Amino acid sequence: MIYAKTKPFPADFLWGASTSAYQVEGAWNEDGKGPSVIDMATFPDNISDFKVTSDHYHHVKQDVALFKELGLKTYRFSISWSRLFPDGDGDINPQGVAFYNQLIDEICDAGIEPLVTLYHFDLPYALQQKGGWSDRKTVDAFERYARTAFELYGDRVKYWLTINEQNMMILKGDVIGTLDPNTENPQKALYQQNHHMMLAQAKAMILCHALLPQAKIGPAPNISCIYAASSKPEDNIAAHNYSSIRNWLYLDLACHGRYNALVWSFLEEKSLLPEIVAGDMEILRQGKPDFIAFNYYASTTVAADVPNNHAGEKQDPRAVEDQQLAGVYKNVYLGVDNPHLEHNEFGWYIDPVGFRLTCREIYERYALPLIITENGLGAFDKLTDDKKVYDDKRINYLRIHIEQLKLAISDGVELFGYCPWSAIDLVSTHQGISKRYGFIYVNRDEHDLKDMARYRKKSFFWYQRVIASNGEDLNGHIEY
Ligand code: BG6
Repeated sequence: MIYAKTKPFPADFLWGASTSAYQVEGAWNEDGKGPSVIDMATFPDNISDFKVTSDHYHHVKQDVALFKELGLKTYRFSISWSRLFPDGDGDINPQGVAFYNQLIDEICDAGIEPLVTLYHFDLPYALQQKGGWSDRKTVDAFERYARTAFELYGDRVKYWLTINEQNMMILKGDVIGTLDPNTENPQKALYQQNHHMMLAQAKAMILCHALLPQAKIGPAPNISCIYAASSKPEDNIAAHNYSSIRNWLYLDLACHGRYNALVWSFLEEKSLLPEIVAGDMEILRQGKPDFIAFNYYASTTVAADVPNNHAGEKQDPRAVEDQQLAGVYKNVYLGVDNPHLEHNEFGWYIDPVGFRLTCREIYERYALPLIITENGLGAFDKLTDDKKVYDDKRINYLRIHIEQLKLAISDGVELFGYCPWSAIDLVSTHQGISKRYGFIYVNRDEHDLKDMARYRKKSFFWYQRVIASNGEDLNGHIEY
């Protein structure tokens, strides 16, 4: 649909930016913090670990002052579960409590609305040792942790997110998940973990509504539209398969408290059905989100994977090793290249129109307000001798995506916020600090921590103007 006149962003639209605790805080073993699964993982020699990251833990005042200068209306960050509960479910760590009190106070004093993710990939290692999400007891530990967070910070935090990209942890467990690689039948274990995380999420939503009637809470999966490789009916069935497995399984459970019928059949066919005990489905039905938050980086294209179709020849060669590509599931779907789209430096497709379509699809299915909690461009930014970062590609990426959001609003989608990834440079999930996303440059390399100085990139001033004009002025030309 082409509009003669598009609708403006709502006056109270939450322009924001995002980070996550383990990617930005550093201080991995300071002030009583317990290790998380990330702290105990190993990484290739050529990329940074997560011990220091952007050292936000020791730069909170400076960073929040920059967020204020940027003009953020909201700041999305996550709480490190093992900073609050070093063993995941034992004694509380008062210094961890104090750190998030300080952070939230700074954010509120800056006139910024805090948007808090309870869990962003960094499960406490002590829980992992006891079975992690494969063990139902982790659901109880999460419930206790969520209750504590609501009680401690609910006087200032109105917007909560449950679990970041649960779907990616299940689908791409080898890239960003936490499953023990030696697990026998990993797929089966992952879908059991998924069921437990769904219960944990539902319990957190129920609790949040009981304890904080003014607050709002929602899930934060990574959702993207799925294209069929052609108009061949079989390719469209494959696209529907992948969309249900990648997207709707998670949102149907979160919003309707029921398993998606097609995915249930898929799990049954592959002998992957989770164990569900009496009372589980009732909990899932009771836990209702107030909104849907979602992360979007790229769309995906799939073809049918039917016997003897020479799958290996058609398959996108990058499809096996990254969370933004479909990969292949025998007889179900086959990730293929989309010749109509460009890629970023890391091979991720750039598809702003798919962003609009994704917003439409989610809103049409669930009729809940939406907020984007991640969207952005990872790039090898360079700091010049005069301390500038000319990240015009990022400006362009964000500009074309925001343009499509405006169209989605004109389409009737109820959208209340947009938080690009990331507020400040941080360490990527599996590609180090050189894959930068921030509006603010952090002066360090993979292994040389340098001085950690913060520098405003060109995109900082561009986004500042976008926010000040409430999304009306997206012009990429800016004095810098
Ligand atoms: C999402 C995660 O998968 O995408 C973030 O929620 C992550 O934690 C972001 O950093 C970008 O991915 P990557 O792999 O480039 O860091």
